Amino acid sequence: MNAGVIGIGRYVPDRVMTNADLEKIVDTSDEWIRTRTGIEERRIADKEMDTSHMAELAADNALKDAEIAAEELDFIIVATVTGDHGFPSVACLIQERLGAKNAVAMDVSAACAGFIYGMITAKQYIETGAYQNILVIGVEKLSKITNWEDRNTAVLFGDGAGAAIISPVSEGRGILSFDMGSDGSGAKHLFQDGPLLYMNGREVFKFAVRKMPESSLKVVEKAGLVKEDVDFLIPHQANIRIMEAARERLGLPPEKMARTIHRFGNTSSSSIPIALVESVKDGKIKEDDVIVLVGFGGGLTWGSVAIKWGK
Ligand code: UT7
Repeated sequence: MNAGVIGIGRYVPDRVMTNADLEKIVDTSDEWIRTRTGIEERRIADKEMDTSHMAELAADNALKDAEIAAEELDFIIVATVTGDHGFPSVACLIQERLGAKNAVAMDVSAACAGFIYGMITAKQYIETGAYQNILVIGVEKLSKITNWEDRNTAVLFGDGAGAAIISPVSEGRGILSFDMGSDGSGAKHLFQDGPLLYMNGREVFKFAVRKMPESSLKVVEKAGLVKEDVDFLIPHQANIRIMEAARERLGLPPEKMARTIHRFGNTSSSSIPIALVESVKDGKIKEDDVIVLVGFGGGLTWGSVAIKWGK
């Protein structure tokens, strides 16, 4: 039994915050943000729009795309570090709202690698035959833990949600291989302290430029493929310079990499599924393409999957 993606969906808030808007809040410039990160604007959720609400809207879209009913879900995995509450989980909140009464629900805390951790977890339950349909969501309302006085971090983040339904797919398709890892010794470089996020950008940068290419190559090898077999790369949208490092190591041309960072900034666990939705919508991923999804984040954590696209 191969586990693959049978439906995807995303939600981003309507409110756009541009680099020019940020120039009014902190000592920064559009030029600095563009050249150092690739970000031009990001979406910021209104006060009333909490994390679970964004997750629910993305999930609705994924269920429609997969053409299955919420009652058919066996498991809901929500990757987030900005849940509505310490507990209950966002997964439990949306289980009720979606009417997914047959689903087990839990959150996963792996920061920006969370969606990949969720996908890999889902793969195990599908391939053992334990479950049929698993909803995996990456969702963050980072604006509520952003320190709006710290220019080192305030310019980077945005809010949003992306979802995928993982189910059995036809032979040869689906998630071919995975790689995942954690290094708690780097916890001090990216964490939430009280209500606010703290990051040592340079340290995280160094870790990411090393790990993203390494993990991407590993997952290709584990799938029994070579990098020339890869058709498209979907990296976590944290910084265009980090993304380019991964793309170059895989030897892919610029048009073979998902790029949404200029529009949405770094949306942590939701950046990969949002970029996946955009890439499919723009016709950049075709049936039977080999795609690599790779993420890294606070923990430190990292993970990647190679997928042969299609049901
Ligand atoms: O999603 C997971 C995790 N996060 C990441 O992936 C982030 C990884 N790190 C990065 O993307 C980059 O390190 C940053 C974008 C955060 C920073 O870029 P950098 O090229 O590493 O800059 P830097 O931290 O070395 O700072 C260079 C200069 C400093 O000034 P001095 O000390 O050289 O005078 C900073 O104070 O840029 C200054 N600076 C800014 N200037 C204008 C830092 N932030 C800003 C800003 N606007 N927003």
